[in-house]
Amino acid sequence: MRTVQSMHEFYSDTQTRPTRAMREAALTVDLGDERHDADPATLELCARVAELLGMDAALFLPSGTMCNEIAIAVHTRPGDEVICTRESHIIFAESGGPAALSGVMMCPVDGERGMLTPDQVRDHVRPRSAHAPRSRLLVAEQTANLAGGAVWPVDQLNAVAAAAKSAGLATHLDGARLLNAQVATGIPAADYARDFDSAWIAFTKGLGCPVGAVLAGSRAFIEDAWLLKRRWGGAMRQTGVLTAMCLYALDHHVARLADDHALAKSIGARLADLPAIEAVLPVDTNIVIADLAPSAPDARETARRLRERDVTVTVVGSRRLRIVTHLDVGPADGDALIAAMAAIA
Ligand SMILES: Cc1ncc(COP(=O)(O)O)c(C=O)c1O
Repeated sequence: MRTVQSMHEFYSDTQTRPTRAMREAALTVDLGDERHDADPATLELCARVAELLGMDAALFLPSGTMCNEIAIAVHTRPGDEVICTRESHIIFAESGGPAALSGVMMCPVDGERGMLTPDQVRDHVRPRSAHAPRSRLLVAEQTANLAGGAVWPVDQLNAVAAAAKSAGLATHLDGARLLNAQVATGIPAADYARDFDSAWIAFTKGLGCPVGAVLAGSRAFIEDAWLLKRRWGGAMRQTGVLTAMCLYALDHHVARLADDHALAKSIGARLADLPAIEAVLPVDTNIVIADLAPSAPDARETARRLRERDVTVTVVGSRRLRIVTHLDVGPADGDALIAAMAAIA
């Protein structure tokens, strides 16, 4: 169990602490009751994110997991099937939420770097039949987390969504790191979300906030999502103390994601030269996935030894590590990580 941030914290971009300026934004904000549409900062944040994603409306939620789980519940009925890549967050890290909360089946597809092709979607849509589950929803992740923060090309992402739509499926975009894709490519988030019925962005990852994500879609979708937000206990009160920090992050922490990407690329390139590392996946954004060489200990033992040198990384396979850059790590932390990894035989 991890309780304390290490000195060189590469476990995840979720480990950032809110900056002083961000906290100060929360001190002076006007407050109201969000569930009565009376919290000004929350209304402003939802309007800004809806516009950013090219959607009609949006709602503020405590977490990205709640965005995904509410979207799945709104788009599906129990017994339906959801098409996504095998390494999707909704499969590996949402506590079985799609099954427990929506009663849906997952159709995990082996993608290339966390991405599908339109043909793969068409191949996995089940023909209408009384025997088969109804294929009902496609979920894509931009960027693809376990594929190393890989960025879907915009045409491929929209072609996959279009293939799902023409087969009668709804489409949902997990945009936990969508703004990383926007900054890495210069392509606006709305272009990536164009063929999706719902999409969200996280504030607790690269943007550095302690709480929050915003889910967007049509007005009808958001009306249904609000019902579940309340039913599942996600409706809050004076959320302005949180959303003031999110607004601050939108204004001050988006462009700087480029620094995280540059640091991740430099770490990836230097890791690839170390004897303990067999291969590094291509680095598109702020996530580096590295596979250990046969001479190195397994991933758990390697992570333990790094931890002894105050460097934290994530174990994502028996011989695979994940390293994530963010607001709270810089080039000196990168040097410490490389030095610690160089000491591993
Ligand atoms: C791709 C992806 N989707 C969803 C989530 C869930 O977000 P949260 O931690 O806010 O629930 C994460 C969290 O890291 C993620 O990486």
